[in-house]
Amino acid sequence: MHPLIQRIAHTLALLGALAALPVHAHETLKLDAPKPNIAPTPPMGWNSWNKFACNVSEQLLRQQADAMAASGMKDAGYQYIVIDDCWQKSRDADGNIQADPERFPSGIKALADYVHSKGLKFGLYSDAGSLTCGGRPGSAGHEFQDARQYAKWGVDYLKYDWCNTGTRNAEAAYTIMAKALRESGRDIVLSICEWGTDHPERWGPKVGHLWRTTGDIFDAWEGQKDWSLGMTNILDLQVERADAASPNAWNDPDMLEVGNGGMTTTEYESHFSLWAMLAAPLVAGNDLSKMDADTVRILTNKDVIAVDQDPLGKQGRRVLRQGELEVWVRPLQGGEFAAVLFNRSKAPADMKLTWDRLGLPADRKADVKDLWSKKVTKDVSGSYTGKVASHGVIMVRVTPQR
Ligand code: GLA
Repeated sequence: MHPLIQRIAHTLALLGALAALPVHAHETLKLDAPKPNIAPTPPMGWNSWNKFACNVSEQLLRQQADAMAASGMKDAGYQYIVIDDCWQKSRDADGNIQADPERFPSGIKALADYVHSKGLKFGLYSDAGSLTCGGRPGSAGHEFQDARQYAKWGVDYLKYDWCNTGTRNAEAAYTIMAKALRESGRDIVLSICEWGTDHPERWGPKVGHLWRTTGDIFDAWEGQKDWSLGMTNILDLQVERADAASPNAWNDPDMLEVGNGGMTTTEYESHFSLWAMLAAPLVAGNDLSKMDADTVRILTNKDVIAVDQDPLGKQGRRVLRQGELEVWVRPLQGGEFAAVLFNRSKAPADMKLTWDRLGLPADRKADVKDLWSKKVTKDVSGSYTGKVASHGVIMVRVTPQR
């Protein structure tokens, strides 16, 4: 064939092949396998970062798994033991990710087996960039290889961070890892940690099971430290995203600081109550092997946890803000409600939950349970009042009578 004719024929064949491709502009954004139904309620667990940062090791992780099983945390519903950043060291010649051999001499598989032997689930951390936030190897370009490795090790949960991602598009980057996990042969929760930068509440529900909405939390009532925010600063950023939450798709206002010492017991009760109102993942971030009685009491408050884990999966809202006094309401399954009276001020305050905030007629009788004092008041109508401590909450479950 004349070279020119050959060239034309080749071009025509190429065009034909292109025309045969499905008209899908972003092939990488197509997720064929359905998202596994493994977070119908917000995930509950423990993560190493808030307390231990890069100081992780297999001894620490085993100790935390033991403590989760022995302290009542497991019985209260906590499941995942997640190693955050700095467990990784390098890649081998074939690109396989390697754990730090000094800190994890028995390897990740043995650790995952140990966690599973306690009746718990095991999670790891990686990053969509070249390096993690702590400067360890990230998963960019290794997504499928890493996901297959996680599945072999027995990983149940991946927290996937966003450092060193350059100009990558967040939705596309997280979708690639979602595809890789779904094709790995194991059901793995995908925890998107993109800090709320590129509206993860828009694409997160189809890609992952939860997505961070803000920068990092730090253990303080309020304030800002570099890109970390105090508890109430994070809370204020949750208000406009409430609609996006549903089973298997949760807004993540970051992990808990309960028990880490930077807030008072009253403030930690507020932190825990409000995170439950937000249908937040309840991921403890303290040393589970050294908990005082108040820390255990707060983290295992079954009534508050039941609000967080309510199967309806609707996130609560702030329905009233009067200066430093706030009312939050969350609808629960079966026509019940959770409500929080939140006093941010420096003095105790008399506060009131009026039935119109719940959408109930004033004469509708309801039983009200205080979820911290455990006191039940029957036949309440119109409103429920109480004195709320400075920086504290009254949290109630309202059960309207039929
Ligand atoms: C980011 C994340 C944190 C933690 C660190 C680890 O800051 O938002 O939650 O994972 O990286 O380096």
